[in-house]
Amino acid sequence: MKNILLGITGGISAYKSANIVSQLKKKGYSVKVIMTKNATKIITPLTFETLSRNKVYVDMWDESKGYEVEHISLAEWADLVLVAPTTYNVIGKIANGIADDMLTTVISATKVPVFFALAMNENMYNNPILSDNVDKLKGYGYRFIEADEGFLACNTNGKGRLKKEEEIIEIIEEYFIKKDYPQVLQGKTVVITAGPTEEPLDPVRFITNLSSGKMGYSLAEACAKLGAQVTLISGPTKLEPPMGLKKFISVRTALQMEKETLKYYENIDIAIACAAVGDYRPKIYYKEKIKKSDSDFSVELIRNPDILYQMGLLKKNQFLMGFAAETENILENATLKLNKKNLDVIVANDASNMGNGNNTVTLVEKNGKITPLKREKKSELAYTILLKLFSKVTMVSLMGILILTGCSSIISNSTGKEKYSDLEKKYSVILKKPRLKSKEIDSLKNKYIKLNSRLERNEENKKLKKEILKKVVILEDLSS
Ligand SMILES: Cc1cc2nc3c(=O)[nH]c(=O)nc-3n(C[C@H](O)[C@H](O)[C@H](O)COP(=O)(O)O)c2cc1C
Repeated sequence: MKNILLGITGGISAYKSANIVSQLKKKGYSVKVIMTKNATKIITPLTFETLSRNKVYVDMWDESKGYEVEHISLAEWADLVLVAPTTYNVIGKIANGIADDMLTTVISATKVPVFFALAMNENMYNNPILSDNVDKLKGYGYRFIEADEGFLACNTNGKGRLKKEEEIIEIIEEYFIKKDYPQVLQGKTVVITAGPTEEPLDPVRFITNLSSGKMGYSLAEACAKLGAQVTLISGPTKLEPPMGLKKFISVRTALQMEKETLKYYENIDIAIACAAVGDYRPKIYYKEKIKKSDSDFSVELIRNPDILYQMGLLKKNQFLMGFAAETENILENATLKLNKKNLDVIVANDASNMGNGNNTVTLVEKNGKITPLKREKKSELAYTILLKLFSKVTMVSLMGILILTGCSSIISNSTGKEKYSDLEKKYSVILKKPRLKSKEIDSLKNKYIKLNSRLERNEENKKLKKEILKKVVILEDLSS
């Protein structure tokens, strides 16, 4: 898990930082805290020592540290620095190159991203000196979490409140996700259906199935982490909606799922129909609980709409993915379903996996390509499926990075001797495991970012950039 260095400065909202530490710890992050001297007048270091289970750093000249240069080792330990709350004073100091305490010194020495969550009185917030300093720091790559409007400690309403702790953490997590996951679905809109449906017979009885919703929820989470705007439409499950969704819609019956799905279907890029929609529902719904009697009781079932079939009929440019849970002739039945429902791909699986944490599936694509995937946890399988289908983009962007970082030997090979499939094999580790904390891809990305910003500034390099873009186009051809 990641290491977060939390800076706490002398703002009245410093007490809220305790909640930030506690939530970060709950999510599994390692947290170390640096406080300014003034922050310790608002809340004690002991609070943060207890919550973070680490020593709190205040004084740079603390003699208990032995031979280690602590401000340097802290700067290197962190994956990210978050300062919350950030005072007017600290922004002023950092913008002017002042490093006169532990926090400002560590910030001056770190190479990792630094996020400042601002919090102060409204007049301080609107002071043009602050906005000049913020602009200057943004220019150096520092990131800012704007303050919210609301009731302030100085007894007025205005802008200056520390953003809610949950929202600050969300921003930090979003940063890590974008850094660690290839954004192959960036800008794509996705609708996913998940879970079972329930078809009520009376107020206490209904027909349902064993679907847990795990596969659909895992796909929704994976799509969001790979950059998509995801709407998840779910039948009743015991699962929490995944983080990062654009919208979560809860439904109960097949008819409700049909209505919601078709409402969003027209204007999206990708639809993933993963829900186990009940094929039938009771013809009669009894408003009162059905009383037990000594005789038998029959329930007449009527057909529910076939949502996936309708999606196939209405399909324009959407990429449509369906699931087939079968108990026999899995591939044959899945292929029939693919054709009948006008799908782009169907994920065929054994219905015995319903409700399980693991799954074994085979992808059957419209062009006849059949790809069996190895048994994996559903949460992992979701990435494997998505990257199998959409990783071409990853390949191109990875190659783009390689070109920009001057890995010319790989590129010259790729334009001639080596085929795309060989390259894919070579880089399959990176492509298949997007969550791998690959130092290789991280350092490539860093080089890319640096080179790119250098290219922006220099006239001569602009020509080079054009050349590079041309090569990217060649690679795009190669990979198609
Ligand atoms: C009770 C109290 C609350 C304060 N709250 C804030 C605040 O929310 N934001 C801010 O920028 N300064 C606030 N200040 C002023 C800062 O504490 C002051 O500028 C100090 O020099 C900041 O030191 P530091 O940035 O090293 O922590 C507050 C001061 C006091 C006495």
